[in-house]
Amino acid sequence: MKMWSGRFRQPLDPEFERWQRSFPYDQRLLPCELAASRTHAQALKGAGVLSSEELISILQGLDQIAAQAANPKFLEDSEAEDIHHFVEKQLVALIGDTGFKLHSGRSRNEQIATDLRLYVRANIDQLRSFLADWIDALLDRSDAAGKAVMPSYTHLQRAEPVLVAHWLLSYVEMFLRDAQRLEDCREHGNLCPLGSGPVAGTTLPLDRAAMAAALDFDAPTANSIDATSDRDFVLEFVNALAVLALHWSRFAEEMILFSTQEFGFVQLPEAYSTGSSAMPQKKNPDLLELMRGKAARIAGQANALMIAVKGLPLAYNKDLQETQEPLFDATETALAVLPMAAGFTRGVEFDFARMEQAAKTGFLNAWAAATYLVRQGVPFRLAHEQTGKAVQLCLEKGCEIENLSVAELQSISPAFGPDFQAALSLEAVLDVHDVLGGTAPIRVRQAIAAGRTKSAALREGVHAHA
Ligand code: ARG
Repeated sequence: MKMWSGRFRQPLDPEFERWQRSFPYDQRLLPCELAASRTHAQALKGAGVLSSEELISILQGLDQIAAQAANPKFLEDSEAEDIHHFVEKQLVALIGDTGFKLHSGRSRNEQIATDLRLYVRANIDQLRSFLADWIDALLDRSDAAGKAVMPSYTHLQRAEPVLVAHWLLSYVEMFLRDAQRLEDCREHGNLCPLGSGPVAGTTLPLDRAAMAAALDFDAPTANSIDATSDRDFVLEFVNALAVLALHWSRFAEEMILFSTQEFGFVQLPEAYSTGSSAMPQKKNPDLLELMRGKAARIAGQANALMIAVKGLPLAYNKDLQETQEPLFDATETALAVLPMAAGFTRGVEFDFARMEQAAKTGFLNAWAAATYLVRQGVPFRLAHEQTGKAVQLCLEKGCEIENLSVAELQSISPAFGPDFQAALSLEAVLDVHDVLGGTAPIRVRQAIAAGRTKSAALREGVHAHA
């Protein structure tokens, strides 16, 4: 039986009927729908609409639906309009007309709003736990990299030497921010729409505070018009995923670049690479390329969501059904990417010798050289100029700054002393950056320790699920 056929004289156009159904995708919401329905049933009992026997029978029916759903065949239902209709149909099939009582005093508009909040919340928790795994993989690799050095880049030109660990830790920071953004989103969305009805509030004396508590929400939503039409929590969540995906696409891009023969800094793990059907020598970075590509897709879903809501009159409109697929797609994309990215991070090999070689050539110590002059009392702008002259001389001679003789250097500036060369060794240059957040080894050790503390706090902060 349809949920609304009473006032209609004609059946739906079959093509339209099929096309408007959301069940093919909203069946993902079954666990949320069942949880919200159990809660609503309890509230109906409290309001005197259900007897104790009816409540028990409904709860048993809902449990049975959950059990049967373990078999995917159970979800093959070409009549169900959406997840709400499906559960009602199955409940009535199991327990008879008492099943129809469950819809008393509620509307699908509040149900879908509730289901989606539960879905977003559960996935935030899962994603944060996956992020913690990836962060730990990055921290382990940072630890193991010890004092290995590599060039850092600005404008994709060699800039200054940094510890490999320092580079990896930059991603730890991004993913920690992503985890926090997801938690913020969880907090904003953790309110219960049940009892909002279709738009103006329910017509039965349902205990909204009890329903919110039963579903682990912080409180009931405050306004029924807003509660049934609000999808901010979806927008916020998918936008947070889009930022996360931008971060992972930068990681992917760097790994792709560093795995080229031109860079040769990393070797791709075979477990996450593929060959070419034509060129036998190829090992392609498919995981990384797909990560980069999926970021576009998530950004697109975030955009689709914003446009779906733009200019929508209050309260519920069927357009809101179109917020589901972008949400599911973005969520499932992120859920799939994160564990593989962690696996990749654990498996990728670094060619430290090659990285160090690259860090030693191309005047990456020029800023440290200018800093040496500053310490001798030379004003920075002049120190910059004088170091630039030294670089120019090196370019003519085909050498590095530390290879110039003291006499050559002093012809540029008398401030260059005999201790200048020592100040340009890789170790000395790294140690110049002895500042919180800098790449001096002692600071990087601190940063790894701080990262471990933050990652443990993140794990601790992931909400447990029954
Ligand atoms: N499948 C619908 C959706 O996702 C459920 C709400 C339907 N409400 C309605 N008034 N037709 O939006």
